[in-house]
Amino acid sequence: MFDWMLPEKHAIAILKKDHDTVKELFERFEKTDSSAEKEKIIARAVDELKLHAVIEEEIFYPSARKHVGKDLMNEADEEHHVARVLMAELDANAAPDHRHAKFTVLAESVRHHIKEEETEMLPKAKELDINFEALGQQMLARKKALKKNGIPRDAEHVMLVKANGKSDSPAASSTRKSSVLPKAATKAPAAGARKSRSAHATR
Ligand SMILES: [Fe+2]
Repeated sequence: MFDWMLPEKHAIAILKKDHDTVKELFERFEKTDSSAEKEKIIARAVDELKLHAVIEEEIFYPSARKHVGKDLMNEADEEHHVARVLMAELDANAAPDHRHAKFTVLAESVRHHIKEEETEMLPKAKELDINFEALGQQMLARKKALKKNGIPRDAEHVMLVKANGKSDSPAASSTRKSSVLPKAATKAPAAGARKSRSAHATR
């Protein structure tokens, strides 16, 4: 059966609908020049992605992991981790100067992740002999509860708090006025110059 023919509550149909929602938000972000609009899109996309990540990690991935295989699933886990780090930094407004760049990289990374899920993971998972609609109902119920009670703080948010705002080295170094290297190390003195200086020191 083609994916567009799947029942609305089929687990794979739910995941693909979520994918379409965030891809549309990424496109809107790229098209607008308004900072206020960009901020609204960031907030909405981060919420959508967090909800989606929880239902995948708690419900869908464990059901599919064995059949899909370790390599693809572990890669998906790592892509979620990277997305979660970027989302934790966006939540904390870390490196405000890099905020839009941070979201752009999140969007690029999520697009890549979605492509891999839709072309490799989901077709493989679809072969499973399980009740996909029951799984979908479970995912929707979890999503509803998260919307009502809030999304629990993940390990990446905790990690960011522990780093005390110092988790983003490239963004931090971009704001430094000069190189962190000591001046002497940027240009090694000529051999002769080194000799005459040490001779001076011993005098
Ligand atoms: Fe995913």
